[in-house]
Amino acid sequence: MAEQLWGGRFSKSTNEMINEFQASIQFDKRMYHEDIAGSMAHAKMLAKCGIISDEDCSKITDGLQNILEQIEHGDFDFSIDLEDIHMNIEKRLTETIGEAGGRLHTARSRNDQVALDTHMYVRRETAAVQKLILDLQTAFVATAKKYSDTIMPGYTHLQRAQPILFSHHMMAYFSMLSRDFSRFKGVYERCDIMPLGAGALAGTTFPINRQMVADELNFSAVYANSLDAVSDRDYIMEFLSAASILMVHLSRISEEIIFWCSREFSFVELDDAHCTGSSMMPQKKNPDVSELVRGKTGRVIGHLMAMLSTVKGLPLAYNKDLQEDKEGLFDTIDTVKFSLAVYAQLIRGMKVNKENMLKAVQEDFSNATDLADYLVKKGMPFRSAHAVSGKAVHYCIEHNKWLEDLTMDEFKSLSDLFSEDIHEAIKAQTCVDNRNSYGGTSPKQVQMQFELAQNILNNE
Ligand code: ARG
Repeated sequence: MAEQLWGGRFSKSTNEMINEFQASIQFDKRMYHEDIAGSMAHAKMLAKCGIISDEDCSKITDGLQNILEQIEHGDFDFSIDLEDIHMNIEKRLTETIGEAGGRLHTARSRNDQVALDTHMYVRRETAAVQKLILDLQTAFVATAKKYSDTIMPGYTHLQRAQPILFSHHMMAYFSMLSRDFSRFKGVYERCDIMPLGAGALAGTTFPINRQMVADELNFSAVYANSLDAVSDRDYIMEFLSAASILMVHLSRISEEIIFWCSREFSFVELDDAHCTGSSMMPQKKNPDVSELVRGKTGRVIGHLMAMLSTVKGLPLAYNKDLQEDKEGLFDTIDTVKFSLAVYAQLIRGMKVNKENMLKAVQEDFSNATDLADYLVKKGMPFRSAHAVSGKAVHYCIEHNKWLEDLTMDEFKSLSDLFSEDIHEAIKAQTCVDNRNSYGGTSPKQVQMQFELAQNILNNE
């Protein structure tokens, strides 16, 4: 009979298939570091409070340190019979240090232990994700600065709308990522609460000091309600929400990069090192990174939905359903970190085809608003100016011309408010320069965004 740590009230060992079904060691072993750090802090507190002896405490600490080294060197055999990371480590500890190991679990349950480990894990990984977001933001700013005066079409409905600076477009991505960063900051704050000491659900009969454990493990606060401490998974749902929104952003960026590097657009070229070819078509160079990130977004959103659905119907306090919080969380962490790291490289290696971007602006009517604005500045009501500009576009389409090609006579026949300065007023560069309202696409406004960005990057 497999010797379970909770085997006392049982007369039969667990069915083998059930054993495997209910185990979490296959995936929760990645929290070994948090589990050991948490146990060390717990043992230290138990000793300080006179619940275990100092001698037992140092045996426990040394034993745990040994186990940590074994795991790190790959010398630790995780057993599925011992269900999870908590019991694998505790069992090994007792095997090596004897009775003192059996005292470690005093005033503790796996319910508050797993909550502690997961809080610590999410806290650490949240900080890691934040760092990667900052690096990607840095890559966007660098690319924006490198091509700071490049003009491209801005789109609505994926139809050319008004000329913009490419750098303005890059800085829009920067802004999206700033909100992601601050969302993860919120996740960190609400994850930074210490659950240990809640026991199984109701607290403990021992005179523990929870604040001591919180201080030892650098937590800002302690859960004030033991039922809440063991059943709260908000910080996981929040992490998954923040991760989903971040992935949605990366996915929108991906979508643009995918069509920007298609032959039809030819706006950017990705580094060969960041693309793959086709096994059949020798000419192909595919933007796999962007496609994969777009694809993986669905997977992360799926993990969020799974977690929300898991928690939705659960009564307080701990239920085994909660063990389902981990795989989706871990996969999300891996996916988000990998995607961010890969994207920073992709953006740093991306070359912009300035000529094609400018050509796309010149060979269209995206200066039609500027034509209307010109007339408004000469005194015409905007609504009438819109109609005149629309007629000018119609005339051009019929005569196979662009607005810049119209002669002075042709302009005059549309409105006598037109004079020689109209040609300058509708040049792409003028259209961009003139959009100087706060947050607009003018070089001055983009410069302002660079300064704001530098401030953000320096202070995070
Ligand atoms: N492996 C469990 C989890 O991940 C740990 C807590 C189990 N507690 C219990 N009473 N079965 O949630």
